[in-house]
Amino acid sequence: MPKDLRTYLTDLVRGKSGDLRTVDTSVDPRFGITAYGAWYDKRNEYPALLFTDVAGTDIPCLSNLVATHERMALALGVPADTLTRSSIAGQGRAAHPPIEVSAEQAPVQEVVWRGADADLRRLPIPVHNELDGGPFLTAAVSVTRDPESGRLNAGIYRHHVYGPHRMGVWFFGSHDGGVIHRRYAAKGEPTPIAIVIGHHPAFLMGAVSRVPGIGGEYDAAGAFLDEPVQLVRAITSDLLVPARAEIVIEGRILPDELAEEGPFAEWPGHYVGGGMKPVIEVDAITLRRDAIFQDIQASGREHRLMGALPRIASVHQAVQQKVPGLRAVNIPLHTRMHCYLSIRKEFDSDPTRAAFAAFNTEPENLRAVIVVDDDIDVYDEREVSWAIGTRFDAAEDLQIIPAWNGPGGLLPTNWSYDAEGGRSARSSSAVIIDATKPAPPVVFPTRAKVPDDAVAAVRPASVREVGSLDQLPWLS
Ligand SMILES: Cc1cc2nc3c(=O)[nH]c(=O)nc-3n(C[C@H](O)[C@H](O)[C@H](O)COP(=O)(O)O)c2cc1C
Repeated sequence: MPKDLRTYLTDLVRGKSGDLRTVDTSVDPRFGITAYGAWYDKRNEYPALLFTDVAGTDIPCLSNLVATHERMALALGVPADTLTRSSIAGQGRAAHPPIEVSAEQAPVQEVVWRGADADLRRLPIPVHNELDGGPFLTAAVSVTRDPESGRLNAGIYRHHVYGPHRMGVWFFGSHDGGVIHRRYAAKGEPTPIAIVIGHHPAFLMGAVSRVPGIGGEYDAAGAFLDEPVQLVRAITSDLLVPARAEIVIEGRILPDELAEEGPFAEWPGHYVGGGMKPVIEVDAITLRRDAIFQDIQASGREHRLMGALPRIASVHQAVQQKVPGLRAVNIPLHTRMHCYLSIRKEFDSDPTRAAFAAFNTEPENLRAVIVVDDDIDVYDEREVSWAIGTRFDAAEDLQIIPAWNGPGGLLPTNWSYDAEGGRSARSSSAVIIDATKPAPPVVFPTRAKVPDDAVAAVRPASVREVGSLDQLPWLS
């Protein structure tokens, strides 16, 4: 059976982790779905939540599915502690180009809503955070075709639902979806778009990978899935969409119309972004007979994890090309705008080269790259902090890159604010913190440690809790 959201949920339940829970009481899509996510977040718990009774629709809503490393590891079929390395391997493989199947073989076209029936209000689309401007699609993979190369492109883009058949779309910076739309708009033509909702998490990994050039995400998804993505021709355009998705919304981005988009709470945890953005008109919605809608908890852990994990793989590939001594990459979840690189340093220029390769892979999101030696575990904040404390001298090892991020966008630092509540876009700086030792042959003080063989010889069974003074004759 080809992989899709259902095969993944089956694996999840069979794994007996208790990670998938249903919410059977009626919930309001306005804050009712994210409220559960927030309630669990306060307890530092991140179960996947299937809301079976969302007011106003017949379709269940799955949220928080991709919120943990363990569930992403399950999606990629690897142990959680090797997740990062495997996601790198997964992205590098790209051995499974997609294959096309007929409409009869495409569950996503079992039901077709056209015209007035293609009403977005029939879907359980949540309003996520307090000041959001309305319901938003957050787990939607938008597929477009580059009019110049003919290549299909995919990426997750947020869509602000304005009405039954109208949505906004927010293309950021260098992202290819926006490049493609501007190419159609320059010719005065609408951009055919298909918005894919509900697929295997490995498919989402592929869609948000930084693939060089325009397109290639279906191949990346095939690599993460370890099998080809099955595609079917859309019903209103020549786009190819995943045949085993749950729901596909088909439409056109209008060439000459903008509407006020946002506010929307984004992954940096603030309401930033928005403004006048392109508008989509919906022509059709195709779906499975018993479709499941998928949502990502916006500005929560799930949003940051889905942003960070595929990028770790992309940054790894890009940095390794410049600095072969690269060991590991971490983009920490709690602050996805930082990146930690550990390298086996050969030259004093390695940290700068490595940092720029990382910045250029993630130009919109990274604000600080911290480079450490290969004895530092980049997944341990204490280790990274210790390296800064002991191997970094601000006067020598700090590089500030002025006007790197922005102008504007999602980072609150990329805007100027005034006392009247106004704001204007600005660019903010980025920083390289080189917390590595000098390159060989310079001799740097050796790091202290108890010998490994001595630690291995410890007998934990010989350790006893002191429960009575009788155990301590020295005190009598
Ligand atoms: C949950 C989530 C939401 C995202 N929302 C947006 C968005 O609204 N606009 C955007 O430009 N990128 C967004 N991204 C990032 C893009 O999906 C990502 O950069 C992707 O690689 C872009 O692909 P493309 O440049 O090939 O079109 C989001 C990523 C995630 C994980």
